[in-house]
Amino acid sequence: MLLILRWLAIGLAVAVFAGWAMLWLGPAGVTHAIRSAAGLATPGGVQVGGSFSLIDQTGKAVTDATWRGRWMLIYFGYTTCPDVCPTELQTIVEALDSLGRQAAQVVPIFITIDPERDTQAHLADYVKLFDDRLVGLTGTAQQIAAVARAYRVYYAKVTPKDSATYLMDHTSFLYLMGPDGTLRALFRPGTSVQELAEAIRARLSAAS
Ligand code: NI
Repeated sequence: MLLILRWLAIGLAVAVFAGWAMLWLGPAGVTHAIRSAAGLATPGGVQVGGSFSLIDQTGKAVTDATWRGRWMLIYFGYTTCPDVCPTELQTIVEALDSLGRQAAQVVPIFITIDPERDTQAHLADYVKLFDDRLVGLTGTAQQIAAVARAYRVYYAKVTPKDSATYLMDHTSFLYLMGPDGTLRALFRPGTSVQELAEAIRARLSAAS
């Protein structure tokens, strides 16, 4: 029962986000990655993405400007996620692999929405399970709340009834940010490796 409620909550969150995304990206934004115009302001002036100040898995302080000039492929999740996060991270790594040399222009970034458990050391162990290129970012609860707000990421702690530990409900979109730090594409959860690689390749080629 609780599991059903949890999935309903996630489904609702995704539906709300999808509905909202459709409002300003158009229907294609939900079913496909979409090329964004410069600025990408919504009718209401809402923007996706922005500045952040976090700590990487080596303990180094970073900001969004750290990777200016390269593309950022950003995913929000948490290391104890049982299903969606590992799948999405694997998709990112495989998509980069299929990009070949072009992959050097893209920095894959995993930002935790569970900073309480995902310490720098914990992130270091986690990201290397996937790929040496993967950057893991954490921060204070306030810093994570700020970056999640900037990227319109929903997340919430959920503790199953008979459990001593909590889970995190969260939206699972992938954000492709251009060399200038602005949003270039948004990918829905479950985007295939091929679809992701092709969409990224098209944007890299168009920009070069
Ligand atoms: Ni997850």
